Amino acid sequence: MQNKIKRSPLFYVGDKYKLMKQLAGLFPQEVDNFYEPFVGGGTVFLNINANKYYLNDNDKNLINIHRFLINSANNPTLFFKNVEKIIKKYHLSRSYKEDIIPVSLKKEWKKTYFAKFNKEGYEKLRVCVNKHIKNDPLILYILLIYGFNRMLRFNGGGKFNLPVGNVDFNKNVVNALNGYFDFVQDKKMTLSSKDFRAYFANRKYSKNDFVYLDPPYLITASEYNKRWDQKAEADLLGMIDDLDKKGIKFALSNVTHYNGSKNDLLIDWMKKYKTHKIESNYISYHNNGKKQIKEVLITNY
Ligand SMILES: C[S@@+](CC[C@H](N)C(=O)[O-])C[C@H]1O[C@@H](n2cnc3c(N)ncnc32)[C@H](O)[C@@H]1O
Repeated sequence: MQNKIKRSPLFYVGDKYKLMKQLAGLFPQEVDNFYEPFVGGGTVFLNINANKYYLNDNDKNLINIHRFLINSANNPTLFFKNVEKIIKKYHLSRSYKEDIIPVSLKKEWKKTYFAKFNKEGYEKLRVCVNKHIKNDPLILYILLIYGFNRMLRFNGGGKFNLPVGNVDFNKNVVNALNGYFDFVQDKKMTLSSKDFRAYFANRKYSKNDFVYLDPPYLITASEYNKRWDQKAEADLLGMIDDLDKKGIKFALSNVTHYNGSKNDLLIDWMKKYKTHKIESNYISYHNNGKKQIKEVLITNY
């Protein structure tokens, strides 16, 4: 574990950045191979010291962006040059380098001037992605950085369909990118974009391997939770039992209670393992102002 917690430059919805200190304190000290079947933005692996990393997510675009960033770590100067070319071409704000937003716009739209300024260029870039350069990881990454909630979202016809966000390419993005590049540069990494069932199939493990799992949560609402159901949950819990039988260390992040719902399947299953309470700071309040989320880390060590 590094001293300073790194945040993934994907700023992924629901990333573990704010919980990383707590989680890292509960992870094994020595890790040979690190497995993360639901890697998302990657904040967790960025804070793990292992000999080898096996990262997976069934979102192909997300994995393509990771692959692209890992390759870019060999030449960050070229990466930033290419970013700048696109940002300039589409006349997007670039507060990491200079402030080009007119004072009059800032005065008129005190809290939303980034969105107002970037809307036109962002929409042109989105058209360009949908028409010509589908799935170009650099363009998708830039859309993510300027987009609403910093997400990737496609409609049924495969078109990127998020609106512009009130954010831009700022110093935090550059710092997170540099942190990512520094970290991945000398690491052995294998990436895949499979369903978790295929990812686990026929895998061989050795002593000191560690599997960290942060799947979609059955009872919370999020874009990537939509296709997660009782069957997926049951399959996953069964696969984790298999890991345990093989003597492999695992840690599973999850939520047992959320705004009046509870995950009985999980609550029953976790009785055979250790449960650590995680103090989460997601904004989720009932009318009485009481937080209604219980987040846990379940481990077999
Ligand atoms: C809670 S997020 C992980 C967030 C991650 N810990 C982070 O810090 O960014 C869950 C991830 O699981 C992925 N996912 C959803 N269903 C999946 C499946 N069947 N197989 C593999 N990955 C899946 C989603 O794309 C999403 O990125």
